[in-house]
Amino acid sequence: MRKPMLAGNWKMNKTRDEAIQFMLAVQDNLPKTVESVVCAPAIILRDMVKRATTLHIGAQNMHECESGAFTGEISPVMLKDTGVEYVILGHSERRALFSETDEKVNAKIKKALEFGLKPMLCVGEYLSERDAGKTNEVLERQVSKAFDGVVIEKPSDIVVAYEPIWAIGTGKSADSYIAEEACAYIRGILAKIFSPRIAEEIRVLYGGSVTAMNIREYVAQPDVDGALVGTASLKEDAFLDMALALKQVVKRSD
Ligand code: 13P
Repeated sequence: MRKPMLAGNWKMNKTRDEAIQFMLAVQDNLPKTVESVVCAPAIILRDMVKRATTLHIGAQNMHECESGAFTGEISPVMLKDTGVEYVILGHSERRALFSETDEKVNAKIKKALEFGLKPMLCVGEYLSERDAGKTNEVLERQVSKAFDGVVIEKPSDIVVAYEPIWAIGTGKSADSYIAEEACAYIRGILAKIFSPRIAEEIRVLYGGSVTAMNIREYVAQPDVDGALVGTASLKEDAFLDMALALKQVVKRSD
């Protein structure tokens, strides 16, 4: 059984006080059958971890080296030190705006696992790639390079998010059958890289303009185990509504 996941990616939003306010508003009402995660700016992670009861806390990025002359970067040692549980790796904004390559993402995944941080790998195609019929090729490349040489001890600690770039922050969410097609394809790639059993236990999420209004359509799909949400995860009410929408969802992994 895969536990449904609602993961918020706050990106470069919220101060410490705003984050604490959010936690106070949602934590007592989150359903236990859903794993609810917030990936927050690094500077407030420690304060959030301290106050976390039902919420799981994640970071949004991590450098692949443990220390060194990398001005402005945050190492896995430092993230671990905050007590954080998850880390988003390979988000399309990092790939596009900060020149992150598949090789870098691979090194980051290995380091995260070495330090006991659970990676949330993001993959997804540009609209031009979809239009050219290259979606599967892009997913195949991104997923297999990200996990090249990776040994998975606990598949339930691994999350892959399918985030088509054309759907991120655009309000143009993908149709649910497109999300299912891609998430199922990703699970197939994972089965080839690891094993069908491991692939069945890894959670695959959809991300891209998910809201409290459309989240049900996605998680009704057999291979979509939850959502990675940007904009709509910033509002307490919307976050709670989305978590409650996942409450009744059951994902069998057999
Ligand atoms: P939006 O939900 O704002 O489209 O962002 C999606 C995203 O990038 C989550 O990582």
